[in-house]
Amino acid sequence: MSNGFVIEDSEDIPKYSLEKVLGKVIHGNSLSVMKKLPKESVDLVFLDPPYFLQLPKKDLRRWNSKTIVNGVDDEWDKFKSFEEYDSFIKETLLLARDIMKPAATLWVISTYHSIFRIGKMMQDLGFWILNDVHWIKTNPMPNWLGVRFTNSTETLIWAAKDKSSRKYTFNKEWAKKLGIGKVAANVWEFPICTGKERLKDDDRRCKLHSTQKPAELLKRIILTTSNEGDIILDPMAGTGTAGYVARSLNRRFIMIEINPKYIDGMKKRFDRG
Ligand SMILES: C[S@@+](CC[C@H](N)C(=O)[O-])C[C@H]1O[C@@H](n2cnc3c(N)ncnc32)[C@H](O)[C@@H]1O
Repeated sequence: MSNGFVIEDSEDIPKYSLEKVLGKVIHGNSLSVMKKLPKESVDLVFLDPPYFLQLPKKDLRRWNSKTIVNGVDDEWDKFKSFEEYDSFIKETLLLARDIMKPAATLWVISTYHSIFRIGKMMQDLGFWILNDVHWIKTNPMPNWLGVRFTNSTETLIWAAKDKSSRKYTFNKEWAKKLGIGKVAANVWEFPICTGKERLKDDDRRCKLHSTQKPAELLKRIILTTSNEGDIILDPMAGTGTAGYVARSLNRRFIMIEINPKYIDGMKKRFDRG
């Protein structure tokens, strides 16, 4: 499986054909890679970008305890300012939109740290928001410092390319099975990724990625808003959850990831089947 699974992006590659990238992860910066993908070629985009959490430099400790909160302090989550973050997200959204087929839709996920500004940018750019979906984590990170509520949700925004998009995919039977209540309310409840599902680093002691998404999240997105054979693009793939679940549900995928450590983990994950 790993033979040919990873494509190394380089300046010498001017364009990618669909055949070359389907079922692959491209190791590179999605801001340059997406420019080389064919226009209007994918059916669904799953965007799980940096959160820009802006954690304080000092250790965060839990209230009433010496335990250090294991937050997201990765280099990839750091930006100098909101201005820099916004311009990164805006460029990502514009490039993703070029690659979307006219009826394609885009999902983006984040926390309160950035989801509101991402939503505003999307509306300003002309995306048409179809839903926000609230993922309630039944086992949130216990980051209770006693100064505010424990953050136990993430918000997803699901949007069409523009207001005139009508023929997007919405599989209402799946929505009814997965959303709360008879009318499939926009609330999903399931745990964060732990245990065997969580990829570990080489000495198997620490998690490989601080924000690996549970397969259940991608399963819900893919079943409700794509069809078998559809092409799903994940421009910031991390551990490759979107491609991994897409493959298991008979969808095709293209992934992009900048960090070689995650690409290695992804390769092993896909090899294990
Ligand atoms: C929130 S994580 C995605 C986690 C992923 N959904 C999973 O389930 O593992 C964001 C990822 O974006 C990657 N990333 C950040 N900037 C990038 C860029 N310019 N091009 C490609 N990947 C990037 C980071 O390395 C990180 O793995």
